[in-house]
Amino acid sequence: MRGFTDFRNYESADVELVPGANLFVGSNGQGKTNLVEALGYFATLGSHRVSSEQAMIRQGADAAIVRARLRHLEKEVLLEVQLNRVGPNRAQLNRNQIKVRELPRHFSTVLFAPEDLALVRGEPSGRRRFLDELLVLRSPRLSGVITDYERVLRQRNTLLKSARASGVKGTALSTLDVWDERLISLGSEIIEARSTLVSELQPAVYEAYIAVAGEDHHTKLANRLSIFGGDPDSEANDQDTTATVDAAEAATRFRESLDRLRRNELDRGVTLVGPHRDDLVLGLNGMPARGYASHGESWSFALALKLASARVLREESNVGDPVLILDDVFAELDESRRQRLADAVSGFEQVLITAAVFGDVPEKLAKHTVRIDRGRIVDPEEPS
Ligand SMILES: Nc1ncnc2c1ncn2[C@@H]1O[C@H](COP(=O)(O)OP(=O)(O)O)[C@@H](O)[C@H]1O
Ligand SMILES: [Mg+2]
Repeated sequence: MRGFTDFRNYESADVELVPGANLFVGSNGQGKTNLVEALGYFATLGSHRVSSEQAMIRQGADAAIVRARLRHLEKEVLLEVQLNRVGPNRAQLNRNQIKVRELPRHFSTVLFAPEDLALVRGEPSGRRRFLDELLVLRSPRLSGVITDYERVLRQRNTLLKSARASGVKGTALSTLDVWDERLISLGSEIIEARSTLVSELQPAVYEAYIAVAGEDHHTKLANRLSIFGGDPDSEANDQDTTATVDAAEAATRFRESLDRLRRNELDRGVTLVGPHRDDLVLGLNGMPARGYASHGESWSFALALKLASARVLREESNVGDPVLILDDVFAELDESRRQRLADAVSGFEQVLITAAVFGDVPEKLAKHTVRIDRGRIVDPEEPS
């Protein structure tokens, strides 16, 4: 059970979620995505569609409040978050104030959305984000490492640019050495964490792909590391690695690359190697999926990545399975993928599905249906 106030187009709403599948049906623009976005906030402290939280507060209201009662085995917790137009947001656990950033410790979600296709077909940055979000869900500490890396990267780039402008003086170069050490140490930690994650995801993705596609297309995940000379913009690369790389090895290669590229970096004023230039290469039948996979195969791969993350999160969770959110995905899939996806997700404790067209959703996920109409939750229909 949960409720929310002044969230997006909802003035006030309560919705009872059942274990298993919950389907929300309504025509476009009624508030289906808003509803799952509200719940997703507890897990991601953000939204999958906007970077600004202001957009989540109902127009004309000062604050949005979302409340969720979560039950896992015998344990029940009440989470609450208040997003404020002005001033910091607030969070509560069982009516006691906690830090907002502690919310995700109590709840996790895996979101499937039409935009997931870009995981396969889009730019490397989307795949890096996919890995990093999963890393942070698994070990929240890494959120700080990633933020620090990004900050050091920005400062180092600024320094490279100013060194270029001032004609490379000795002092600028020694300051650069200091930033290099920070960059290498944080970056190597990220490279190791991503590398371990990818090797854990590999078997789960392989199985999930077969489950969704109904065929084995020899899916493979590999890291393309810029410190090994891998260029994220090239389609095929001998440097792709499936082996795990630990932080010590990464640091050595990182340092070598920076030494080798110093001239070039000073010329261009940007940092040319590091986890911000890496890619996760998705292989399908021995070829890169990006550029080779068909529309259906790309969808199967995207779904497999999400299913595999859910599986990995489930294995180490002590607050129960992640809640799977399937926002508008069935409309994108052909009939056989719809059925197989339904089978693959139905083993999870709770699944939330949104659809504009009831008939797009396989029957086994449509037992508990709630209609959404202009920011209102219409009484659930009788379970069939
Ligand atoms: N902050 C807000 N205040 C009021 N209405 C909003 C706000 N943000 C979005 N909306 C409205 O919510 C509706 C979209 O809801 P959404 O959940 O995306 O629809 P769908 O059912 O198609 O998923 C739009 O009508 C939009 O104008
Ligand atoms: Mg929507």
